[in-house]
Amino acid sequence: MSTILAIETSCDETAVAVLRNDELMANEVASQVAVHRAFGGVVPEVASRNHLAVLPELLDRVRGKVELTEIDAFAATSGPGLASSLLVGNSTAKGLALGAGKPFLAINHLEGHLLSPFFGRKKIEPHIALVVSGGHTLLVDVRDVGAYLVLGKTVDDAAGEAFDKVAKLLGLAYPGGPEVERGATMGDSRRFDFPRGMADSGDLNFSFSGLKTAVRYALAKEASRDSNTVNDVCASFQAAVVEVLCGKSLSAVRKTGARTLALSGGVSRNEALRDGLRAMCQKNEIEFLVAAPWLSTDNAAMIAFAGLLCFERAKCSSLAEEIDPNLALA
Ligand code: KG4
Ligand code: ZN
Repeated sequence: MSTILAIETSCDETAVAVLRNDELMANEVASQVAVHRAFGGVVPEVASRNHLAVLPELLDRVRGKVELTEIDAFAATSGPGLASSLLVGNSTAKGLALGAGKPFLAINHLEGHLLSPFFGRKKIEPHIALVVSGGHTLLVDVRDVGAYLVLGKTVDDAAGEAFDKVAKLLGLAYPGGPEVERGATMGDSRRFDFPRGMADSGDLNFSFSGLKTAVRYALAKEASRDSNTVNDVCASFQAAVVEVLCGKSLSAVRKTGARTLALSGGVSRNEALRDGLRAMCQKNEIEFLVAAPWLSTDNAAMIAFAGLLCFERAKCSSLAEEIDPNLALA
């Protein structure tokens, strides 16, 4: 039996979780969304100061549920992310590990997302992972924990970034994903014929910046920006993103002969994307796994799960291991 305490501070969520095998004993997330909304996006300096202010309180709450002496290893996200934010969680976890005389685990944030559809399981079956977040869009051939081959990624904006930028163009609040999804449920997805970036490129890469530009041009041509237009843009934009993600995921599965597709990352909260991929998988007899909504956006439970899998495979890290804001998956 292993018990892992994990800290996640890579962006604007401060999070601490404790996982004992498949039992989540504590899961605290303090979102800074309201703070950053006023700026229309995440301000790194503000984020790290908030992590520092909030983390002790979250750790106190966790200590009310689990004794620190019960922890076998302390994990923290070591990248990718905002340097000054990563440092807060990383230094705290290292300090706790040092004080307790227990191992430290440096966890890749992307690996946390990627493994989250398997949360609570002992074994990670070979599969294709589609990781869609605010900073990344990745198709990965996963053979086992730590055995990752990146098949494709975005050449410009990430899928979540595209949602956020389009929301900004439409005057919607940050983060844009949920706002665009809300608008899309009331809109007509056929009103605007937005480009499906790199759909026929023959590789497994993505491009979303042309789509964002197309939205900008379409809006410039509209005489008025009433709520119907905003909702129709949301629906048409979302349909384009979903179609491209479904098409490339199917190509990745076909190319590798995989039998399972697993979806994770903040954008996987999007119902249209989940439904689109589920339908595509059903039609093609592919098993579809998706992270639970509470595990999709940034949290420490997924870092604890990745930490547990690493700990059980004796993959601990040195206290000298530094954070890496540009850490790659493989
Ligand atoms: O994984 P995450 O919490 O943070 C990163 O690692 O980036 O993902 C955040 C991203 C944001 O871009 C946000 O707009 C997007 O996930 N997102 C959504 C939805 N909920 C969050 N995108 C589309 N539809 C949603 N419902
Ligand atoms: Zn994330």
